[in-house]
Amino acid sequence: MEATLLFLLLLPFLHAVELDTVSNTQFLTDGDTLVSPARVFELGFFRPGSSDNRYLGIWYKKIPDTVVWVANRNHPITGASQVMLKVDNPGILVLSNNITTFWSSNTTKPSLNATAKVDDTGNLILMDHTDKFIWRSFDYPTDTLLPGMKLGRSNMTGIEWHLTSWNNNQDPSSGEYTWGADTLGYPENKLKQGPRVIFRGGPWSNQRFSGVSTFDSNLTFTYVVVLNVSEVSFSYVLDDSSILSRTTLNSSGHLENWVWVENGTKWQLALSLPRDICDSYNICSGYASCSLDMIQQSCACLDDQRFMPRNQKSWERADWSGGCVRRTQLVCENGSEGFVKYSNVKLPDTENTWYNMSMSLKDCESKCLRNCSCMAYANPDTSLEGRGCLLWFNDLFDIRGYSVGNGGQDIFVRMASSELVGESNLQKKGGAKIKIIIPVTILGVLLIGVFSTWLYARRKRSHRDRGKSLQVSKNNQDDFELPLFSFSTIATATASFSDKNILGEGGFGPVYKGVLEEEMEIAVKRLSKTSSQGVDEFKNEVICISKLQHRNLVKLLGCCIEGDERLLVYEYLPNKGLDSFIFDKTIGMILDWTKRFEIIKGIAKGLLYLHHDSRLRIIHRDLKVSNILLDEDMNPKISDFGIARSFGGNETEANTHRVVGTYGYMAPEYALDGIFSTKSDVFSFGVLVLEIVSGMKNRGFIHPEHDHNLIGHAWSLYNEGRSMELIDGSLAESCNPTEVLRSIQVGLLCVQQNAGDRPNMSSVIMMLGGESALPPPKQPAFFMEKEFLVADFSSSTYPGGSVGDVTVTEVDAR
Ligand SMILES: *[C@@H]1O[C@H](CO)[C@@H](O)[C@H](O)[C@H]1NC(C)=O
Ligand SMILES: *[C@@H]1O[C@H](CO)[C@@H](O)[C@H](O)[C@H]1NC(C)=O
Ligand SMILES: *[C@@H]1O[C@H](CO)[C@@H](O)[C@H](O)[C@H]1NC(C)=O
Ligand SMILES: *[C@@H]1O[C@H](CO)[C@@H](O)[C@H](O)[C@H]1NC(C)=O
Ligand SMILES: *[C@@H]1O[C@H](CO)[C@@H](O)[C@H](O)[C@H]1NC(C)=O
Ligand SMILES: *[C@@H]1O[C@H](CO)[C@@H](O)[C@H](O)[C@H]1NC(C)=O
Ligand SMILES: *[C@@H]1O[C@H](CO)[C@@H](O)[C@H](O)[C@H]1NC(C)=O
Ligand SMILES: *[C@@H]1O[C@H](CO)[C@@H](O)[C@H](O)[C@H]1NC(C)=O
Ligand SMILES: *[C@@H]1O[C@H](CO)[C@@H](O)[C@H](O)[C@H]1NC(C)=O
Ligand SMILES: *[C@@H]1O[C@H](CO)[C@@H](O)[C@H](O)[C@H]1NC(C)=O
Ligand SMILES: *[C@@H]1O[C@H](CO)[C@@H](O)[C@H](O)[C@H]1NC(C)=O
Repeated sequence: MEATLLFLLLLPFLHAVELDTVSNTQFLTDGDTLVSPARVFELGFFRPGSSDNRYLGIWYKKIPDTVVWVANRNHPITGASQVMLKVDNPGILVLSNNITTFWSSNTTKPSLNATAKVDDTGNLILMDHTDKFIWRSFDYPTDTLLPGMKLGRSNMTGIEWHLTSWNNNQDPSSGEYTWGADTLGYPENKLKQGPRVIFRGGPWSNQRFSGVSTFDSNLTFTYVVVLNVSEVSFSYVLDDSSILSRTTLNSSGHLENWVWVENGTKWQLALSLPRDICDSYNICSGYASCSLDMIQQSCACLDDQRFMPRNQKSWERADWSGGCVRRTQLVCENGSEGFVKYSNVKLPDTENTWYNMSMSLKDCESKCLRNCSCMAYANPDTSLEGRGCLLWFNDLFDIRGYSVGNGGQDIFVRMASSELVGESNLQKKGGAKIKIIIPVTILGVLLIGVFSTWLYARRKRSHRDRGKSLQVSKNNQDDFELPLFSFSTIATATASFSDKNILGEGGFGPVYKGVLEEEMEIAVKRLSKTSSQGVDEFKNEVICISKLQHRNLVKLLGCCIEGDERLLVYEYLPNKGLDSFIFDKTIGMILDWTKRFEIIKGIAKGLLYLHHDSRLRIIHRDLKVSNILLDEDMNPKISDFGIARSFGGNETEANTHRVVGTYGYMAPEYALDGIFSTKSDVFSFGVLVLEIVSGMKNRGFIHPEHDHNLIGHAWSLYNEGRSMELIDGSLAESCNPTEVLRSIQVGLLCVQQNAGDRPNMSSVIMMLGGESALPPPKQPAFFMEKEFLVADFSSSTYPGGSVGDVTVTEVDAR
């Protein structure tokens, strides 16, 4: 009796068989499985989790929990009804219970006596009697991409290959996420939630997606990209095919790449996408790049010199939806424009692009240049020996910056000619920030377009992954060396530091004019012998400073270290400091309003570079008119930057015991408490602006009617609506009242008492160049000369020492 019962219970299992084919005579019924030749994959019926629904699917033979494909995902077999999979003539795979068809293959070719098999890659293949395939499951992926499976589109069959997530772990029906190729422009994979893109893999390349930088595993892949008229597809195969690997789009919209660890008998996660906030589609909007190594914000304009936030206010609130815009609009005058290269970026969305993979980069550039709506070009695939051209025809968005060696590619972005000229001389020296590509003559190059498929192993790490992401894309000279001058050379050049050659006296020592043997004029700063820095430290500092290159900064040419002598050698600028112009009523006339406004904007740009764009984040701490030098064309150049940081002694970043600066320019929190920040520089900038506009010095300002200093005077005129009266008499004719009023108001905003109220330099630049209404300034600091003096001397142990105009004060530690 017992034996019979046992027999009955086991009956279905005894009945179950492992088949190797299904045909019109051999059916697969519940409990049966179809096993691949090397027993890697198995097809059969399963119930996901605790669900009562049954599905026909493929799983790993030795890992039955891992289902990689489901046939009837949207038509589950409910209840206990007996179903079978068989091949119906003329060559269709059918899953049915004789009443309902739960699923059938989409067969294009009718064929008698077809058979179905599962192969060792996990592909269910229906073949005709001559073993030609009629249908295969790889053409209809569910949520899993196996090695050898394609994403993309076939132009021959019209089939589009993409993944669709499960609804949830218990329900394989189509979920809301998809991962597949966008082939409108140059193909790239997009992760979508319904119609909304949430992540972009980046343009296809043979090496890796530029949007997918690192795989945390030792696996080596071969990526296969097909781009021809009959097919656009991407797939990958493992170099070691015995390793089990799969990429699954999970039900919460993450792509997970898993590798089976034989030893641990478990799946190990090798990669999960999207990884972080910067992978969120288009988080920074146009012309802005997302990177995680920024200190406060994750979005930044491609570069602050050429781009600015469309809406500064929102940008500061971390609302990046407006993106960035060019500071100089494109006019597209007959090829006068050029390109600026940005490196280590995830190339922007390619939806509106054009490509030709047999074109050279040079031809690519000239093709882009000729079409005014072409905004950028790039070589999407650097393995093609310099061939490959991708052009963008809309604003560039969804850009991400990578750090060195972590992926990303070069892109060349169209710029107005004025954005190219000023910087091109930087190229001559090492350390230039951005490489400029000047348009080249358009050369016709005859090429035979041989391009279809290419293979490449990922393990080859590209040597172009050098230089920091957006910030520094160094040209040719990678190992930057700063020239070292011998002391005797400098002594000869300056006639043994003759007093006659003294150009001025700065915060850390006198500056001499010198002439080198080859007639080259230089300016030499001889640092006072107080620094306790070692030679190596000093060298490192100098090399750092010498890398700060900007058209509005004086260029450091080299240095000299001998004994306890420390000398810095700068380019010589024939014109003296700005102070010798604006405070002299006669010479001052050379600088008409237009020139002065240019100077104000130039100083602002130089300062912005020091504060935000350079890698060092320099706070100048002694910004004043005499530290602004003018070149032959009266372009302003900030001098003495970086000195305070590097040679100011042992002080912490934000609070110093030793105040270095100049009264009249120092922000209250700095003069009184020794607290310095970019906002204390902004204060000095504000003073500078008021001095340039008025031609008067803040300190020593005398007015017959009141005791105010220049700031106080400007403030009372502003409050009475009489700001125009502040202007230097010699400017009356040349001036543009709107610009003057704007400058004064910006100046007053910069000298507000509370550092937090002062704008940062990028806002200053926006405000100077913009037309929108400016916020009203609050009461400035130090507008009473007397008040200032009282505050100044009571809280500090003055005097610490004074060189000319510069004051060095010891302040009590907080
Ligand atoms: C369907 O019909 C065939 C032939 O008529 C029969 O052999 C098979 O058992 C039926 N299947 C089910 C599930 O009823
Ligand atoms: C089969 O093809 C038809 C039309 O070609 C399509 O509507 C249907 O969704 C396809 N079915 C499957 C399972 O792909
Ligand atoms: C299909 O199989 C039947 C029976 O085995 C055979 O008679 C027939 O010739 C086959 N047809 C083709 C086209 O192979
Ligand atoms: C990669 O290989 C190294 C050495 O061959 C090994 O120590 C490390 O565990 C491997 N990492 C993974 C993820 O397999
Ligand atoms: C496109 O590429 C595929 C894969 O290499 C190849 O099979 C096919 O013949 C190619 N088609 C054309 C038109 O070149
Ligand atoms: C698809 O193929 C047709 C004919 O072969 C061709 O005209 C068309 O350009 C192709 N489409 C794409 C996107 O390659
Ligand atoms: C999907 O993948 C992400 C990232 O690996 C993971 O955090 C999440 O739990 C997964 N969701 C499900 C439902 O497995
Ligand atoms: C797992 O790997 C370690 C070291 O590679 C080896 O000592 C151990 O025997 C392995 N275990 C199994 C179950 O293979
Ligand atoms: C514009 O381009 C045309 C054709 O290349 C040339 O003949 C013409 O001189 C150019 N004009 C200017 C202003 O450069
Ligand atoms: C692609 O570029 C090559 C080389 O410049 C050229 O011969 C070919 O005609 C171009 N193809 C298309 C479709 O523009
Ligand atoms: C520029 O390129 C766009 C997009 O390919 C095209 O529509 C337009 O006709 C081109 N303009 C010129 C002048 O070639």
